[in-house]
Amino acid sequence: ARARRERRERLHSLLDRAAAYYARYLWESNEAARARDYLAARGLNESTLRTFRVGYAPSAWDKMLLGSRQAGFSEDELLATGLAQRSRQRRGSLYDRFRERIMFPLADSRGRVVGFGARAMRDNQPPKYLNTSEGEVFHKGSQLFGIDIARRPASRAGSIVLAEGYTDVLALHQAGIENAVGVMGTSLTDEQARELERTARTLVLALDADGAGQEAMVRASRIAAGRRLELRVVSLPQGMDPADLIQRDGAEAVRERVGRSVPFVSFHVDKVLASADLGDAEGKDRALAELRPVIAPVPPSVLREELIARIAARLGLSDQLAATLLEQQAAPAA
Ligand code: CTP
Ligand code: MN
Ligand code: MN
Ligand code: MN
Ligand code: MN
Repeated sequence: ARARRERRERLHSLLDRAAAYYARYLWESNEAARARDYLAARGLNESTLRTFRVGYAPSAWDKMLLGSRQAGFSEDELLATGLAQRSRQRRGSLYDRFRERIMFPLADSRGRVVGFGARAMRDNQPPKYLNTSEGEVFHKGSQLFGIDIARRPASRAGSIVLAEGYTDVLALHQAGIENAVGVMGTSLTDEQARELERTARTLVLALDADGAGQEAMVRASRIAAGRRLELRVVSLPQGMDPADLIQRDGAEAVRERVGRSVPFVSFHVDKVLASADLGDAEGKDRALAELRPVIAPVPPSVLREELIARIAARLGLSDQLAATLLEQQAAPAA
């Protein structure tokens, strides 16, 4: 057990060293001038970038490797942290996994680096993001980007804002929303939900306003259903993510939208109504069938009345008829 703990400590210190190295490389190397310009053009300032320890990985195949070896780390440790890979030939030599990329360190809630998300600088260097692969210290499914920085502000506020991406979290933080974390994609896992539940009671979803992001909100609600998390949704202009909005309309615009978040059920009703075909009676009945389980868990309340009134208006029914139809049990399957 003691040997295991010592090994983990060494892997963490190698990862911390790597983060510090990439950060210095971003700020001090000539090669990273392009990356500095790129980040500045995205509206991210130096203080934000330093808070999140953002860095840059050089184009060389062995700079990280050689520096780490000199600092006393072994090949095995470089492989275990995902910083290096072995070339394809058997007994091939190691090479740096991250090259010519902007480096976003991923830390645990105590701020110890466990991996990296690495963004390509150009569209012709796919994938857009390359992440540390699953390994001894990195588990994507339990990771939340920025949790080390957002934890205190989130527990103070009683709420935590969940965005998809690295740049969303940075931009939100810079806009004064310091309780923001990133899910790193679109699927919230149960492990992440557990971590969120430990941090705050209210989870405010600020996922991308595109098809993938909107579907992800519905999936997230199923994951959150088993937990003591009150779910709210931030509405963003079509096709945008929080970073896009902040860059286009400024910090105040996003603060205002986060302030106007709506309960998840309200978002869900609107989503069903938006995609329903309400052209004829059967279409309306199908929409009602889809809405019934959405409305069912909402206790008698002003919110419930408002949702029913909204549905009634869209379907061209009286509030009372809509309420009756929504409360009816579906016919038991024959
Ligand atoms: N992601 C990933 N691998 C990819 C694409 C996305 O891990 N190939 C994760 C990243 O954490 C990314 C998040 O999913 O930040 C959201 O993806 P997307 O919305 O496509 O990217 P953005 O964060 O908006 O990236 P950017 O603004 O830098 O273009
Ligand atoms: Mn582990
Ligand atoms: Mn997206
Ligand atoms: Mn996005
Ligand atoms: Mn984006």
